Amino acid sequence: MAELAWWQRGAIYQIYPRSFADSNGDGIGDLRGIVAHLDHLSALAVEAIWLSPFFRSPMADFGYDVSDPCDVDPIFGTLEDFDHLVAECHAAGIRVVIDWVPNHTSDRHPWFEASRSSRDDPKRDWYVWRDGDGPPNDWTSQFRAVGPAWTFDETTGQWYLHSFMREQPDLNWDNPEVEAAMHDVIRFWMDRGVDGLRLDAIHKIAKDPLMRDHVGAPRRHDEDWETIHERLRGIRRVVDEYDDRMIVGEVALQDLHRIVLYLESGDQLHLAHNFVFVELPWEADAFGTSIEDFEALADRTAWPAWFLENHDLPRLASRFGPAAARAAAVMLYALRGTPFVYQGQELGLPDAHIPPDRVVDVDGRDPVRTPMPWEPGAGGGFSDGEPWLPVDDSTTVRAQAQDPRSSLTLFRRLAALRRELPALRNGSQRRIDAAPGVLAWVRDERVLAAVNFAGEPRPLELRGKVLVSSDPDRAGGDGLGPYEAVIAALDG
Ligand code: NOJ
Ligand code: CA
Repeated sequence: MAELAWWQRGAIYQIYPRSFADSNGDGIGDLRGIVAHLDHLSALAVEAIWLSPFFRSPMADFGYDVSDPCDVDPIFGTLEDFDHLVAECHAAGIRVVIDWVPNHTSDRHPWFEASRSSRDDPKRDWYVWRDGDGPPNDWTSQFRAVGPAWTFDETTGQWYLHSFMREQPDLNWDNPEVEAAMHDVIRFWMDRGVDGLRLDAIHKIAKDPLMRDHVGAPRRHDEDWETIHERLRGIRRVVDEYDDRMIVGEVALQDLHRIVLYLESGDQLHLAHNFVFVELPWEADAFGTSIEDFEALADRTAWPAWFLENHDLPRLASRFGPAAARAAAVMLYALRGTPFVYQGQELGLPDAHIPPDRVVDVDGRDPVRTPMPWEPGAGGGFSDGEPWLPVDDSTTVRAQAQDPRSSLTLFRRLAALRRELPALRNGSQRRIDAAPGVLAWVRDERVLAAVNFAGEPRPLELRGKVLVSSDPDRAGGDGLGPYEAVIAALDG
């Protein structure tokens, strides 16, 4: 079996820095807080962490509105803190992936301040400006509450494009100067030792240059234009100036064929977040078919990545229930490909309740961004101050770490098993017949994985020893309990 790259071996764990751990009592998580909890990441045997943005930002979109992509926002610390974090992670054998936000900047980025200052400014064309008595076309923001993707700017009497908030003007990737400047941002962080990038909203950096309406057209015009592939190759060339780095794209498209086009040629992305997979209903056939479709399309040239939670999407325990969330964890670790785990998923956290007067996000995502509950007590061990979003300490890392039946114990076991068994990391994958509602597959013909999507028991011939079950009350014997998933060693 070929040696796997680090980003193929084990789980990549997403940290939302605002909500991971607060080291200085201001109620907001920070880089030093992350370093203080590396033991948690080591116990989860993660290969890498992916940090959501910690760059200078007015925080309209909590860091995805970047006003200086080459500096750390003082809320999160300093560049020295970042260097310290990288050194400590590397010493612990954990790689560091950071977010890179190429589609837009903050409206307070000096580039945009120059661009909006006059129609003749040299940076005018770094963003997308158009005339019009009303919005120049029918494109809308990804955020429903924002409405049109265009805002009129009084100073120069034109509209600028923003695929997200108005505070996030889109860069004009049709301008080669923008492309070169954004490549330099990559080099800045690679030179500092980061191991990889998560490319935010990457499908958005290629749009119809004619800016035509969507209406009446067979496809969207504001993303995933043909130019994307050359742009990805350009990004990959920069990344390949460095050894052993990785790029994973947020390819938020609902078409597996198109997602695979970002991966399969070997000179674009290493990994893509699969937004078809993440939207599937909790049904064995839906997951089985989607996994097989990806495998068939990727045809062994593209390595899969599997994720079911992030800082934008409802949590599994709320979507499918707590037992199914645990079964899904077994699936993520037992599939061929790289599992992504979002902070709190290892605890089986549900979406939090946010009182109306505490709502801060433009797009309803606060319930999945509440601080990590580390210990019982006010502040949940997250902060000694007033946390920026409410903390619920009804379950905590400390309590789950001591509980052999907990979700955290299950995740630790799954990670350890993946380290122990080459078949789970690198083995071939073949789906096998199973009872209705059960998805089952074998890895390398040695290890069986099976997930019961049904809320009733289902038969399953086990032919071997169960190594892990999602159900702490598993009785033993053949068959799967309601929403139970297992990994078993096959006899012989
Ligand atoms: C996707 C990110 O995951 C999300 O949090 C953000 O709001 C948008 N991109 C805009 O950057
Ligand atoms: Ca802090």
